[in-house]
Amino acid sequence: MTEMLMVLGGLLVLAAGLGWWRHSRPVSFWYAIVFPARAALVYLTWRHVALGCGLGRKRRRWRWSLDAVPVAGAASRGAAALVEHKRRVQRVDVERAPRLGVLRPTGLGWRVRLRLHDGQVPADYERAAEGIAHAWRVHAVRVVDVAPGRVTLWATMHDPLTAVDVEPETGELLRVRPGKLENGSDWIMDFRTVPHWLNAGATQSGKSNLANAIIKGLAPQPIALVGFDLKGGVEFTPYAPRLSALATSRVESVDLLADLVGIVEDRMALCRTQGARNVWSLPERLRPVPVVALVDEVAELFLMADKTEKDQIAKTSTSLLRVAQLGRAFAVHLVICGQRIGSDLGPGVTALRSQLSGRVCHRVNDPETANMTLGDLDPAALDAARAIPAETPGVCVVAGQDGSWHRARSVYVSEHDAEQAARDHAHLTPTWAALLAAPLTGELPDAA
Ligand SMILES: Nc1ncnc2c1ncn2[C@@H]1O[C@H](COP(=O)(O)OP(=O)(O)O)[C@@H](O)[C@H]1O
Ligand SMILES: [Mg+2]
Repeated sequence: MTEMLMVLGGLLVLAAGLGWWRHSRPVSFWYAIVFPARAALVYLTWRHVALGCGLGRKRRRWRWSLDAVPVAGAASRGAAALVEHKRRVQRVDVERAPRLGVLRPTGLGWRVRLRLHDGQVPADYERAAEGIAHAWRVHAVRVVDVAPGRVTLWATMHDPLTAVDVEPETGELLRVRPGKLENGSDWIMDFRTVPHWLNAGATQSGKSNLANAIIKGLAPQPIALVGFDLKGGVEFTPYAPRLSALATSRVESVDLLADLVGIVEDRMALCRTQGARNVWSLPERLRPVPVVALVDEVAELFLMADKTEKDQIAKTSTSLLRVAQLGRAFAVHLVICGQRIGSDLGPGVTALRSQLSGRVCHRVNDPETANMTLGDLDPAALDAARAIPAETPGVCVVAGQDGSWHRARSVYVSEHDAEQAARDHAHLTPTWAALLAAPLTGELPDAA
């Protein structure tokens, strides 16, 4: 009796200890207890799960079997049940699951490499991912890192996007951290690798919030910010202290874009005289200030109220395209927000879109917008974008230029926060006049 009480007491202490561990040190608890248990379960059930999700392949196998053969002539002698056992080799079909590699823990789940069966393609695994997620009792399973003959499955236990808490500022030039990716890592926007971004989505989907996060992340950096806000300036006027220029009407936009093109061309000339391919290979003292231009609602730049605006729109379109084409090398970057950015806005828009290699697709109302934004990425990205619910503004699908994509969510940055950041760093704002003059006033070529 006392032994039983002691065992019970011991178990209770153990349970309490585990509970405390889980609560106070969730990370070590995950690596030491939960992950190994989950991993064991994954290996034990993998064959069953894979075959259930249609990932098996039939293989021919030779197999020994023991067959009962009636003894010849026995029946005629009245001994009906007389049989003898014979060993026989038989060809049988067995279904085999794809070979599972080593499960590696991540902060939120695990990842594991798989070897594809002959004839399988990564899309087979994307189709099966939801089923696998249910079987593994996890939030989601994604196919990532496709290599010839292999895929990696990435499982996440919870949705890291329900609460996103990151600091947009990274301390590195032209890099911001606007939120988190679904795999639990930071979402980093690096304008030096992906120079221009398209930020699309329906109203209330989180476009302006993302713009706020970008502004908050860029405000402390030695760069110039420029705004285009044709909704009368309601979106960007509060950030004016940190903006080197702000256009709030069509006419102002035409002029400002012409200036931007001028800046790009001056930088191009400077690089040519210095024998540099881009501003980053210039000597530091000649390197011009990077410019990031944010356009709030791109359709406003292209929509025509009457015929007289046709010229302005044509100019806008040409200038924007020129900035997009040349901006990368000369540190002039674009972030273009809009509900739609389709050919219905005019002929220049498709060309512009193709220059915006970074894509962010928030919740959309129509499938074409997702198509337009994510282009020819894999269909699973489009499905993920279409499935974003209205209750989670800021959730989006992000694609960089390497073709990979992620579900992500921006960190909530209120207008007030972004405004505060703009005010706090107002002293870093280069004047527009200085920017226009910069490359030409720099000491000209040492070499020349
Ligand atoms: N990442 C986010 N987290 C929490 N709330 C968000 C997030 N992004 C947007 N919201 C909220 O959703 C609403 C719409 O966002 P907004 O950025 O104004 O959308 P849009 O510019 O696409 O119309 C706002 O009230 C905003 O506070
Ligand atoms: Mg908005």
